[in-house]
Amino acid sequence: MSVKSTVLEILESSRNTDVSGEYIALKTGVCRNSVWKAINSLRQDGYKICSSTNKGYRLAADCDIISAEGISVNTKMKIPVYAFKTTDSTNMRAKCFLAENECHRALFAAEEQTMGRGRMGKSFYSPYGTGIYMSYVFSPNAEITNAVSVTAAAAVAVVCALEKLCAVSPMIKWVNDIYLDEKKLCGILTEAVTNYETGIVSHIIIGIGINYSTVKFPDTIRDIACSLPGTRGVTRNELIGAISDNLYNITKDLKDRSYFDIYRDRMLVIGKNIVYYQDGKAYDAYAVDVDSSGGLIVTDSLGNEKILRSGEISLRLR
Ligand code: BTN
Repeated sequence: MSVKSTVLEILESSRNTDVSGEYIALKTGVCRNSVWKAINSLRQDGYKICSSTNKGYRLAADCDIISAEGISVNTKMKIPVYAFKTTDSTNMRAKCFLAENECHRALFAAEEQTMGRGRMGKSFYSPYGTGIYMSYVFSPNAEITNAVSVTAAAAVAVVCALEKLCAVSPMIKWVNDIYLDEKKLCGILTEAVTNYETGIVSHIIIGIGINYSTVKFPDTIRDIACSLPGTRGVTRNELIGAISDNLYNITKDLKDRSYFDIYRDRMLVIGKNIVYYQDGKAYDAYAVDVDSSGGLIVTDSLGNEKILRSGEISLRLR
């Protein structure tokens, strides 16, 4: 680990506290001049670091830069973390990494995505510095028989972190879009990597995009997207760390379905008229409930019941 990296880790783990140059030097095992150089280099990278002669250094409260160090110090369940200033798509980064490396769990995060991908072949708006774009990779220790359940588990992991750290009460629009005040705050794209020879799912990639502080959205999504409200009181590294820990706990045993009650409880569409889309056609329906494996139970106008296992729905406004 480089001196700069260790210094950043110390600063990120002691937010709101001044840390003396002497303490940092002791921790990193270098002289105070090297600490000073590392601080300057971090400043050149855009870190706002306050310093005072007698007290030492601290990150400014509004200094919020995604980094592997900042994420790692905010996780209890330690996994390898890779952070990028800009990348095409963190899901793509994860896939490329898996093609070349042995890995059981890992996390990829970026300040910006140039080709952010959404479900159903859509793109995901991923501007620089105002969002969270992360991909959590794990190798399932059991056969994945139900993709919806992974996706539901991921939504619960995000919702619980947001509730705990941001004091908001988000809802889940089936399957796994996360809404705040009926606008989309977060989208999740889950992908599987399958071993070509065995046909077994070797890894799952859970891609999560959160509009953290984005103000200007493109015209196409301006009326349906939202960000976290004003005073967030949490850095993106802290939020990513909390989501990562929740994902770790939820995915370590997918047979443990204790997350499911939360999923059902936060379901936005139950008791509402919806439109679902299948094979390019739109169908009116009424959302009755979710079944124990995350399928959406709907009825048509004649009362016929159907369970949706995948696909897209929207709330019916008419
Ligand atoms: C959706 O709303 O349809 C899903 C959006 C998923 C976006 C995330 S951002 C991180 C990861 N990388 C991607 O390219 N997509 C996912």
